[in-house]
Order: sequence, then C-alpha cells, then structure tokens
Amino acid sequence: MSETLSFIHRFEKGAADARPLLLLHGTGGDENDLVPLGRTIAPDAPLLSPRGKVLENGMPRFFRRLAEGVFDEDDVRHRANELADFVAAACAHFGISTPVALGYSNGANIAAAMLLLRPDVLAGAILLRATLPLSQPPAADLTGVPVLILSGAHDPMMSPQGAARLATVLQQDGAAVEHRTLPSGHELSQADISLAKQWLQSNERSSS
Ligand code: MLT
Repeated sequence: MSETLSFIHRFEKGAADARPLLLLHGTGGDENDLVPLGRTIAPDAPLLSPRGKVLENGMPRFFRRLAEGVFDEDDVRHRANELADFVAAACAHFGISTPVALGYSNGANIAAAMLLLRPDVLAGAILLRATLPLSQPPAADLTGVPVLILSGAHDPMMSPQGAARLATVLQQDGAAVEHRTLPSGHELSQADISLAKQWLQSNERSSS
C-alpha cells in the first residue's frame, strides 16, 4: 500500500502489454477486496485499487448517499472528478496505460459516474450491480468504449430498471454496451466471474 497519491491504494504490477484494471470496491470494502477477483479475470494485468474516501458509519465508500439508493449527486460529481484525477496521476506515476474499471456496487456506480463525467480516464468498464448514479447525466463522448454491465434479477438494492437506464444512457453516448441480467441477487456469482473474464479477453483481442 502507498499513500503518496491522493487516495489510499494498492498497486499490483502486471505485464507491460496487459491492459490495467482499476478496482473499485463496494460499501464497507477497501483496496484489498477486489484484488483476488481482478487477478482471476486478468491474470497478467497491473491492478490499481483505491479505497473510497467517504465514510458511512465507518464504512468506506466512493461518494455520499442520503439514504439507501438516494445519492448525494453533488458529491457524486465531486468525488468522480477527484477519483479521475487520482487515476490520471497514478497511471503517470506507475507508468501504466488507461485502465478498464472493474467496479462492484458503490464502486460500479462511481465508475459509471466517471464514464459520464471524465470519459478520458477509462478505457472501458465492467460494472457489477450498477445503477445510473446521476438523474441528469451530461452528454459524454463514449464512442466505441466497451462496457459490460452485469445485474442481478433479484437484487434488492439495485433495480434492473436502474441498470437498464444506465445501459441506455451509455449507449446513447456511443459506448459499446453489453448488459446481462443474471439469476442472482446483489452478491456476485461464478457467472459474473466467467462473463467478466470472457468479456475482457474478447475486448483485449479486438483492441490488439
Ligand atoms: C450505492 O450506494 O452506491 C449503492 O446503493 C450500493 C451500495 O450499497 O453501495
């Protein structure tokens, strides 16, 4: 772990030619949570994993919420920009290329906010149990940016409609969106891991 950049984070080296992953944990997680998942789906990739700076009853998150499912959208905008600045600085610091985000729950929502507000800092995104984090999303140029959204049909926290709205907005901005709804809840399943891995491999092939 290093604290020389503006977020507490963990960085795991990878192969120079592998696309880095930006790992974004869910509420109550930290920079260690998604490292095993990142390694499983991208064995050779550099992994950059920040810890959310917002604390909710002591639990780290990436932005404030007013209640479950009710986001403080000013904070979403502020924190997405702050995180994007960190990602750009960390990429320069570690000498890695623009990452693909792998976010779960609150981490997927901040990744979605970065796609909409700072599309320059991400090469794509895998959004696990995400929703649209801004009610009035700005128009962003996401032409050709690959995005995988995996939702849970029985997710009590993130409605399939919220994920569908997110998919529509990203598609309207030009992103190449694949949205699948799995027979699971808010928790991740083996299907999430397999689909994320396959998606990443096919995008690596098409971008090389
Ligand atoms: C959020 O706050 O981003 C979502 O409600 C998911 C979560 O509980 O983190």
